[in-house]
Amino acid sequence: MKKTIALITGGYSGEAVISYKSAATIEQHVDREKWDCYTIDITPAGWFYVPTAGEKINIDKNDFSLTIDGKKITFDAVLVGLHGTPGEDGKLQGYFDCLNIPYTSCDTATSALTFNKRYTVAVAAFAGMAVAKSLHLFKAGTIEAVEILNTLKLPVFVKPNNGGSSIGMSKVSEAAELQNALDRAFKEDDQVLVEEFIKGREFTIGVFKSKGEIIALPITEIITKNVFFDYEAKYHGASEEITPAKVAEVIAEKVRNAARMAYAIFNCKGIVRIDFIYDEVSDRPFLLEINTVPGQTEASLVPQQVAAMGWTLKQFYTTLIEECLNQ
Ligand SMILES: Nc1ncnc2c1ncn2[C@@H]1O[C@H](COP(=O)(O)OP(=O)(O)O)[C@@H](O)[C@H]1O
Ligand SMILES: [Mg+2]
Repeated sequence: MKKTIALITGGYSGEAVISYKSAATIEQHVDREKWDCYTIDITPAGWFYVPTAGEKINIDKNDFSLTIDGKKITFDAVLVGLHGTPGEDGKLQGYFDCLNIPYTSCDTATSALTFNKRYTVAVAAFAGMAVAKSLHLFKAGTIEAVEILNTLKLPVFVKPNNGGSSIGMSKVSEAAELQNALDRAFKEDDQVLVEEFIKGREFTIGVFKSKGEIIALPITEIITKNVFFDYEAKYHGASEEITPAKVAEVIAEKVRNAARMAYAIFNCKGIVRIDFIYDEVSDRPFLLEINTVPGQTEASLVPQQVAAMGWTLKQFYTTLIEECLNQ
């Protein structure tokens, strides 16, 4: 019998708009000959399925089921197309664990850990990976800008610790700008990460697992016209993304190795995308963050990398779903 998949999208944060675009791509490329697929919208107002014709149908949260025309539908697996909370930070992963429904993303612990940028670099550093020196702040006003500058060298990056899409983030080159940057970041989050600036080329790379093997996709180099890869650069085209990156093979191999190592250390599942800055002084890739539900819009980085590998998105999503069903 054909298995039934739920593609979850939406979410409770500002990233929901991106979730809908990612889910639209995934929906279009799921192999319908292999699986029945229902797109489930997870919103603060409710969780529901919207049929092509007719009224939306609420999910029964007791067992994540749908009842359509008196017939109950349960799901064999969940495909995650939801950025931000609660689909990328481990909350829904914990819920699906309780119900024993497998899903395509990282597990609860890894999702929660990697959603926190500071905890991510801490674990990576513990395993010997290169990361920027940083300070983790929990509450606005508890540390003076001058104390930060006694510990970290300018320029620094100030980021909301649990954010995404570069919202509330700034690069600070002058001591006098630091306080404003902290205030901006604390508006978005009650935790802030202040990180030393790593000078170098920026690379981002998708990694997934199939039949026990950790596979790195072709690397993308990000060349931004803005000060950094900020929201405008990400979503309004103020950056150039070159896939595959034009880079010496020795550097590419170091980035791929670091990416596969991070995937293994964090016990990742499914497709993740890892951001690095390659520091040419120490000749090492510095890990910035791990995105456990990377964007899947047609223009997104992972779909570009899948195409550069010579695969169709249909083949790629089939591999992810099969891996999830066989785990
Ligand atoms: N320590 C750093 N050194 C240099 N550039 C950085 C640093 N941290 C962040 N950036 C720049 O800011 C961008 C966004 O930071 P990132 O940590 O990936 O957050 P997110 O993508 O979730 O907004 C990166 O793609 C990079 O261009
Ligand atoms: Mg990033």
